[in-house]
Amino acid sequence: MAYETLIVEIEDHVATIKLNRPDALNALNTQLLGELADALADADGNDKVRCIILTGSAKAFAAGADIKEMSEKTFVEMFLSDFFGSETAAICRTRKPIIAAVAGYALGGGCELAMMCDFIIAADNAKFGQPEINLGVLAGIGGTQRLTRFVGKSKSMDMHLTGRFMEAEEAERAGLVSRVVPAKQLMEEAQAAAQKIAEKSQLAAMMVKEAVNRAYEVPLNEGLLFERRLFHSLFNTEDQAEGMAAFMEKRTAQFRDR
Ligand code: CAA
Repeated sequence: MAYETLIVEIEDHVATIKLNRPDALNALNTQLLGELADALADADGNDKVRCIILTGSAKAFAAGADIKEMSEKTFVEMFLSDFFGSETAAICRTRKPIIAAVAGYALGGGCELAMMCDFIIAADNAKFGQPEINLGVLAGIGGTQRLTRFVGKSKSMDMHLTGRFMEAEEAERAGLVSRVVPAKQLMEEAQAAAQKIAEKSQLAAMMVKEAVNRAYEVPLNEGLLFERRLFHSLFNTEDQAEGMAAFMEKRTAQFRDR
């Protein structure tokens, strides 16, 4: 499918989705988020895709929700359209793993979009922030909830209340990003990680995603039970037999998603 605000490439079982509104530092408007939801649904339903990378430009992953689009809206319009509610719910329904490869600004909705992905690899020039307070509002697509779970109350309050930006190194120390790499190597590193994931059993990879995400939703005992049942269920698959046989035969497993 052709998109106006995205560039999508599929290679070696990895779909790379690049946000592409360079004149607006990839600000998230209704069209972009709608197209992103469609592109992710396409990738999810495409048998050739086993992992997804979401990225932006060297200067900006995304500089937030599109302020120009929002500025004239009223409460009634925002409420009745449930502004960005359906698009973000659709993005979060993606079952295949999504890596956010973040260079430059990931601010407001940009930071929130990165946090909707399964993990974040940051270039050393990445800057994260929730500066909505400078606009007289607050985060609207998950920032107060997700950032707090990533980095804890104190740092989350600091980010949301002062609107300051966090450099990549601080973001890694705080647990917001999984690794920081030199900006030039960002896509190479993201590709290598995606490739590694693509080689696993897709059954196990998708269950990992479900189980880790469950940790945010349910009490520990429920999460542990959920994980244990998923673990048990994989013993009814050919991939479990193949994975364990390959280990014992000292060879690489050939997973077939069965
Ligand atoms: N919305 C719309 N346009 C944006 C934008 C945004 N969030 N961020 C940048 N742009 C546009 C600028 O208006 C500018 O366009 P023009 O050339 O037509 O004026 C272009 O992108 C380049 O931006 P700058 O000239 O400002 O670039 P800079 O390098 O000087 O500054 C920046 C970069 C620090 C990221 C600055 O652009 C900035 O502060 N952007 C806004 C960041 C922000 O407040 N984000 C939160 C948005 S609200 C939100 O996200 C709500 C939510 O949770 C859902």
